[in-house]
Parts: sequence; C-alpha cells; structure tokens
Amino acid sequence: MPRHVLGIRYLDTTEIDTLLALAAEFKLRVIEGREVPQIPKKVVGMLFFENSTRTRVSFEMAANYLGLKTANFAAGASSMSKGETLKDTILTLRYERLDALVMRHKMSGAPHLAARFFGGPVLNAGDGMHEHPTQALGDALTILERKGQIEGLRVSIIGDVEHSRVARSNAWLLSKLGAEVRFVGPRTLIPTEPGQIPGIVHHDLSTGIRGADVIICLRLQKERMSEGMLSSVGEYASMYQINREALAWANDDCLVMHPGPINRGIEVDDWTADGDQSAITAQIENGVFVRMASLYWGFGGGLEDIIDPHVPVTARRAA
Ligand code: CP
Repeated sequence: MPRHVLGIRYLDTTEIDTLLALAAEFKLRVIEGREVPQIPKKVVGMLFFENSTRTRVSFEMAANYLGLKTANFAAGASSMSKGETLKDTILTLRYERLDALVMRHKMSGAPHLAARFFGGPVLNAGDGMHEHPTQALGDALTILERKGQIEGLRVSIIGDVEHSRVARSNAWLLSKLGAEVRFVGPRTLIPTEPGQIPGIVHHDLSTGIRGADVIICLRLQKERMSEGMLSSVGEYASMYQINREALAWANDDCLVMHPGPINRGIEVDDWTADGDQSAITAQIENGVFVRMASLYWGFGGGLEDIIDPHVPVTARRAA
C-alpha cells in the first residue's frame, strides 16, 4: 500500500512526529552541506491545477535535494481542457509510469480521488477548502524551532477560517499535538459548524488573542467568497488586522505567522510582517524540508533509515 499525505486529520501523532523529525534531520543536513538520502530513478508528477509559488517551488526543491525527477503538468495545456476527466488524467499518468503525484486542486477531495486510481503515493499540495497538510507541517516545524514544543501553547488562527485549508490542517495538527486552538474572525468567515474542526471560536480580536503564544494570520480568500461575506476590506482590517496595537494583547514573545501569499496592510501590517516576532520567512524555508520529509516518507522511508537511534528525536527538533 502506498503512503499518501492527503490530510493531517488522517495522520496519527506518531506519523506527524516522524514527518517533523525527518524534516528537522533533512534541514540539518542541507544547512551543514551533508549528504541526504537519494531516491534515484523515480519521477514525481507536479499537478498544480491552481496557482502556487511557495508550495510548487518548495516541492521542486525538495525533489531536487532527494535526487528525484519531476514531470510538470500544466492544467490549461493538458487534455483536461478537451474534456478529459480527472480520473482518466490520473490513469494516464499512472500508465505513463510516474511514481508519485503532488497535487493542488480547487476541488476538496481531488487528491483522494487521485490516490484511488494512481497506485503510488499522492501528496496533497492543497485541495479546495479541505486541507494543506505540508503547510501545517512546515508551520509546526517553525513553531517547534522557536518555542521548543507545541503541547500547551495557545494558538490563535485569525481571519478567513471558512475558506482556509491552512486553518483546517493547522487546527488538526496543533490540537493533535496538544495545543489550544482558537479561531478568531467575523461570523461570516467562521464555518457555521466549527465543531467539525478542533478549536474555540472568538469574534472579538482582543479576547481571541489574549495570552496567545502563536498567531496565524490567514489570507482573505476573496476568490472563494460569495457576495455579502465581507462588508469591506477596510472594515475587516480595522477589526482583525495584526499590528503593533493588536500584538500588545498577546504574550510578549508571541510568534506571528502567515502562510502567504500576504495581503500586506490587510491581514497584517508591514511593521509586524517584517518585525522580530514574525516567522513568515522561516515558514517558507521550512516548507522545503517538510516536503522532503513527505516525499521520502511517501516512498517508504523512515527515521530508522537515516538517523542514529541513540539520539532522541526531541533533541533533533530544535534546529
Ligand atoms: N502557502 C501557500 O500554499 O502558498 P502558495 O499558494 O504560493 O503555494
């Protein structure tokens, strides 16, 4: 059975721990210029049906470090534009002998369908409003590096939770590892049944981030919003923007994160995005290493294949 990374909700804590420990190990090796394991002769299909900068490039970099080849797929230039179904496209790639797929799609559940028909590992690079598991893994690695642990932290996820796969994957991961998760935003941008994802809802920013150790700002996903969800972007910013004034409600050493792409001056101001408490560039950097870990794990690799079992995993986490 191939190992898929379709969503954090489907991984247990041991699998999450393994992926984070692998990522930390790969990061150390890359930074120190040491060897990383190679997976030669395997080809990974990069299927991006939606635009991407961070995720696409970091998967390409991750594949490159691991000695994998990639085959790129442009949805607009493919036979899908002639009416071919997703199932037939996946079957085509299977019988063209690709070994793994990385897939981003606007439809929630599309990578599950791919996993059903492909035969090799499928890695979800973001599907609709469902999950973005490797983003959450990169965010968790960043939090571990800066805070040393996840258990017991108060993490406030701010803004457009309704449309956010990042919010869902982070909520699953952080709550599985013992953090307190809060969702903060206007009623129209919080899911109507928030009980289906783990977290406590706040509509007021000051109470939602009081005592927070980590703030994760979310992009306003205007392309997924129906009319009337937001009265005005300016009003949203005046109520929910993370800036110097808002940060005063959180803990002094509160980390500020954003998965990108950022709408500067809306979700977060320049002072905060570029300030000392910001971990935004660290999130981007760690994206490469968690994607290396996901590809390596997807092809059957494990911690035992690359590290000395006498060194505790926790000691390897705080790079
Ligand atoms: N965070 C994220 O998924 O960014 P991209 O859309 O640029 O990949």
